[in-house]
Amino acid sequence: MIELKNVCKVFKDQTVIDQVSVKFEDNKIYGIVGHNGCGKTVILKMISGLLKPTTGQVIVNGVRIGIDRDFPESLGMIIETPGFIPYLSGYKNLKNISAIKGICTPEKIKDTIRLVGLDPDSKKAVAKYSLGMRQRLGIAQAIMEEPEILILDEPMNGLDKKGVEEIRGILLSYKQTGRTILLCSHNPDDIKILCDQVYRVENKKLIEEGGNA
Ligand SMILES: Nc1ncnc2c1ncn2[C@@H]1O[C@H](COP(=O)(O)OP(=O)(O)O)[C@@H](O)[C@H]1O
Ligand SMILES: [Mg+2]
Repeated sequence: MIELKNVCKVFKDQTVIDQVSVKFEDNKIYGIVGHNGCGKTVILKMISGLLKPTTGQVIVNGVRIGIDRDFPESLGMIIETPGFIPYLSGYKNLKNISAIKGICTPEKIKDTIRLVGLDPDSKKAVAKYSLGMRQRLGIAQAIMEEPEILILDEPMNGLDKKGVEEIRGILLSYKQTGRTILLCSHNPDDIKILCDQVYRVENKKLIEEGGNA
């Protein structure tokens, strides 16, 4: 479970998030919507440990992020456009990243690349990928180690209709395994179809919109 307690984020004199408290439970997909610049990415970065709240706490499975640990233990994410080494293939990029934790076998990496609709044996450099292919590889990277928490910031960027449908299917089956997924998008339609609960960032607050649960 992810909990935000009285979280505020201030940049210089700009308050972006003001006294937000919320709980995200396991086994659900949560959507976070709102117009550009409202603070969606800032919220995801605070949960991921990439930004510290100015005041308040982020607690993931009982662990205070930025205090007890710098980052949540079991987290996969895409925040904005995923960064890859441009001259390497998709497989080699994921192989390098997987070396950090060392829990993914080459087969698991290849299976995950196949799952997102890419060819794990392709020698094509990531520099030559379309935006949609890069997004798919980013999703593969985020899920290959089967993290408990998946944070996806605008994961449908650059995907065509078929791509969006495929990624939806992948996220729904990922949810079945008991994971928590937080999904940010400025496209409310994507979110409403997929999410159990939807929150809107508005006037520095997180407001529940209801969903399909
Ligand atoms: N590292 C930063 N330093 C200063 N301002 C930032 C930083 N990150 C985000 N902001 C500001 O916070 C606000 C919310 O940004 P963001 O969360 O990226 O919006 P979005 O909802 O589009 O993801 C914006 O006004 C942005 O300029
Ligand atoms: Mg954003």
